[in-house]
Amino acid sequence: AVVVRHRMRSSGRWAKAAAIVKELEEKCGTPIGKLRQVADAMAVEMHAGLASEGGSKLKMIISFVDNLPTGDEKGLFYALDLGGTNFRVLRVQLGGKDNRVAKQEFEEVSIPPHLMVGTSDALFDFIAAALKKFVDTEGEDSHLSPGRQRELGFTFSFPVKQSSIAAGTLIKWTKGFSIEDAVGQDVVGELTKAMERVGLDMRVAALVNDTIGTLAGGRYDNPDVIAAVILGTGTNAAYVERAHAIPKWHGLLPKSGDMVINMEWGNFRSSHLPLTEYDQAMDVESLNPGEQIFEKLISGMYLGEILRRVLCRMAEEAAFFGDTIPPKLKIPFILRTPDMSAMHHDTSSDLRVVGSKLKDILDIPNTSLKTRKLIVELCDIISIRGARLSAAGILGILKKLGRDTVREEEKQRSVIALDGGLYEHYTKFREAMESTLKELLGEASDTIVIEHSNDGSGVGAALLAASHSQYLEVEDS
Ligand code: GLC
Repeated sequence: AVVVRHRMRSSGRWAKAAAIVKELEEKCGTPIGKLRQVADAMAVEMHAGLASEGGSKLKMIISFVDNLPTGDEKGLFYALDLGGTNFRVLRVQLGGKDNRVAKQEFEEVSIPPHLMVGTSDALFDFIAAALKKFVDTEGEDSHLSPGRQRELGFTFSFPVKQSSIAAGTLIKWTKGFSIEDAVGQDVVGELTKAMERVGLDMRVAALVNDTIGTLAGGRYDNPDVIAAVILGTGTNAAYVERAHAIPKWHGLLPKSGDMVINMEWGNFRSSHLPLTEYDQAMDVESLNPGEQIFEKLISGMYLGEILRRVLCRMAEEAAFFGDTIPPKLKIPFILRTPDMSAMHHDTSSDLRVVGSKLKDILDIPNTSLKTRKLIVELCDIISIRGARLSAAGILGILKKLGRDTVREEEKQRSVIALDGGLYEHYTKFREAMESTLKELLGEASDTIVIEHSNDGSGVGAALLAASHSQYLEVEDS
């Protein structure tokens, strides 16, 4: 009798666990019709954000980039790429049409977590010191013309209200950064002061978002690039807009007629988004409640955390890991998206990667195959929702540009430059995003191409520094 009762209890647990998974699957559902609604809402918000300042949750930030790289860029330029847990410093020797990127060196430095939530000075001092160290390694073969000040393209991947190509104030932090005294400050000013403090003589020639850098780097390689999307720690998109389609732009009409827009699509929100109780709870407890809702459904910072929250509920309500709740499972952000990806891609018959991740990260030993299978299913539900929503976002941009349908007369190719760790390393995410976009586009999918722009944002920033160099006019004449 004891055994039977135990069995019944155990089957009850499984039934409850399965019910939680099923409910999640339903709530996370992204049928094509829903994705089309999301895309339409995205296009509507794009219009609203371009119409007036504050007209939409989509900031549609004017980047002051009205010319993308042509290939003529020449000279030695630096770039600094800050936007996630790492930052990179780059040195790029641009050789014009014939020599392109003649030489490129970079170094990556991880940001100590306490600096992400400390003071502006502490963060920028740390960055400036690393940059100085890197500049000091500049060799004799780096052709900085004599008497010239070094120039830098600064990729700063947070929402910045630009006031020119090389100035802008931080609107808010995203992606786990929270440095109060930097909000509202000109980030170029902050960096420049820090460079002065460490004795580095360098001028910031361009301040760009990573999407803008990626767009510039992508365009340098391929003239058909019209938009860039980042799927990484955070998510965002930039694209080339016609300047006359930007009512809130009161400046001169640029010669090119174009203006690049940083959408900050991470902050997109719509009643059509499939939000679950887990998303809501994660948002409420986050550093930026109510903000970056689209980003919280899609990007690398959050997918693992959503999974953890579902597992927590299964532990609590279905005794999924036995009679007690594994204490580590209670720690926010302990499950990282790369670990989730590793579990999701486990092809071994006994799902041993899943088993070892559970053991190593969460201290949960000896899980059954059945348990592991259910966890893979959760990974699938959560990541595929994100992937499909990002495809809907891209469709939204194409709709806004009128490039979502084939017009017989002009079979123009539209290339979208993609970058970010999630896109690069989470294969199932990438594949689902790409196949969903195909599905959404139908026959127009032949003219839309997604191209991986590998770390294009750094080179892109250097290219934009080159085209906004203080020495340019001297050279032109
Ligand atoms: C966040 C930032 C945005 C950036 C994106 C990708 O959404 O707010 O500026 O482009 O992450 O790094």
